[in-house]
Amino acid sequence: GGSGASVPEVDRNAKIPNLQAYGLEPENWNKAALSIVVVGASGDLAKKKIFPSLFALYHDGMLPKNFTIYGYARSKMSEEEFRSSIEGSLGCRLADGAKCEETMGNFLSTCRYQQGQYKSVDDFGKLSKRIAEHDGGHERANRIFYLSIPPSIFTDVAAAASEGCSSDSGFTRVIVEKPFGRDSESFQELSQALSRHLTEDQMFRIDHYLGKELIENLTVLRFANLVFEPLWSRNYIRNVQVIFSEDFGTEGRGGYFDNYGIIRDVLQNHLLQIVALFAMEPPVSLEAEDIRNEKVKVLRCMKTMSMDDVVVGQYRARSIGGEHHPGYLDDETVPAGSICPTFAAIALFINNARWDGVPFLLKAGKALHSRHAEIRVQFRHVPGNLYRNKMGLDLDRATNELVIRIQPNEAIYLKVNNKVPGLGLKLDVTKLDLTYKSRYNNPLPDAYERLILDVINGDKRLFIRNDELEAAWSLFTPILKEIEEKQISPELYPYGSRGPVGAHYLAAKYGVRWG
Ligand code: NDP
Ligand code: BG6
Repeated sequence: GGSGASVPEVDRNAKIPNLQAYGLEPENWNKAALSIVVVGASGDLAKKKIFPSLFALYHDGMLPKNFTIYGYARSKMSEEEFRSSIEGSLGCRLADGAKCEETMGNFLSTCRYQQGQYKSVDDFGKLSKRIAEHDGGHERANRIFYLSIPPSIFTDVAAAASEGCSSDSGFTRVIVEKPFGRDSESFQELSQALSRHLTEDQMFRIDHYLGKELIENLTVLRFANLVFEPLWSRNYIRNVQVIFSEDFGTEGRGGYFDNYGIIRDVLQNHLLQIVALFAMEPPVSLEAEDIRNEKVKVLRCMKTMSMDDVVVGQYRARSIGGEHHPGYLDDETVPAGSICPTFAAIALFINNARWDGVPFLLKAGKALHSRHAEIRVQFRHVPGNLYRNKMGLDLDRATNELVIRIQPNEAIYLKVNNKVPGLGLKLDVTKLDLTYKSRYNNPLPDAYERLILDVINGDKRLFIRNDELEAAWSLFTPILKEIEEKQISPELYPYGSRGPVGAHYLAAKYGVRWG
């Protein structure tokens, strides 16, 4: 900072937030016992994300002192087998080996396993008894259930767990994973069924994209800076792109995926949530209900989509440099001849005063050329630009662009036109660049760490309210129905490519080039 700067520098090397930095009083935090029950503990998500995130929180001292983790599933496993089944997936990103191993051992010793059926009140009752015996000495004992199971059994588990295993001296909260329905109708059914067993207060519907660092930062960028918000409208923004790209196929998850497709798997939730936070009006406060009120409002302003604004694709096999990559249909868990989209691009419009006429272009695909997710905001031309005919730059293309790179290599950068230093006048496009890893030294927490911590803390800002889902499904249901009823064939694209050409035509229709 310059000599006049009065803003204190934050210690960018400080360790990851501790309890106080997070606004929590250790004494309060540690008063109650906490049991976290991972239902579906033998599954993929539990191993890949939930246990590693719980371990990272433990390692950071963010879990209440008296916590216990219970795995619950049908698989037969001894406590030892359960512990070794998760041990391999716990990482040591935060400490050196020896120290981490000790911490890991301590963490694993708090993990217990309970075998049980998902519909059985008795089995959940047995778990409840174990928890109660263990937590006996505490005045308050809270319970969190993480439903890491296929959606077909969400309701069974909610029913059996709430009847057989609710806490009688503290809160009982339930984390529900996506997909939350597959269209408006099935969403309503699921939502009504769950509401017979759980109150809205108890339910935490997760969308892990909301737990990503740069998504949480979106509202800070917009509302804690003067320079962006005045430009944040149709007056200055030409188009907004939200891009999700993966460089691998459905490997192993084809069975699940084929039931849903990329629109339900990524666009209806992750990308739409990003658009809602990006486009909503300023909330009254940072309280969860105030933020979610604004998200619902903007979701309800979105125009019903038409198939003219949708492109679907599916990846096919391709050999690159001697390496063979199988196509979607080569996945053994995918039904022969499936027309399930693994890629979709959609142009979305928001019918309100701020965004009228601005295309929001959403694109998501599997088996593309790279793995990244980003938001690109393309600004309008400079009116009467004095430099239109100056050397070196095509000013029709060199408009300002703000890029929020969600992952990997998290960054926010603004493309600006700049004079190439030296004699003469030549312009150049360059970046005002905030790349996280060169500015901040801490590793970023995984989305699931932040979200689990919020559930413990009862903070719903980053969780989805029922009416948001209702609005999201009513937006997507008509095109999903049309694709399925008319059996619309996806455009094939080679594994590792940039996706179907149709996506470029869709963007071109609105005068947009994908960034
Ligand atoms: P899995 O298919 O691995 O299922 C989890 C566990 O549920 C299994 O280990 C199995 O345990 C039990 N189970 C599986 N199928 C059935 C069935 N038909 N009937 C009863 N029990 C069954 O799921 P994931 O871990 O991949 O996902 C869990 C949840 O998280 C799902 O809702 C998924 O959509 C969501 N999700 C997953 C992501 C991922 O990357 N995996 C990403 C985002 C969301 P057992 O047989 O021991 O009882
Ligand atoms: C999940 C989808 O919700 O998000 C997966 O079901 C996808 O298909 C995943 O791979 C991507 O998450 P991330 O955090 O790896 O970008």
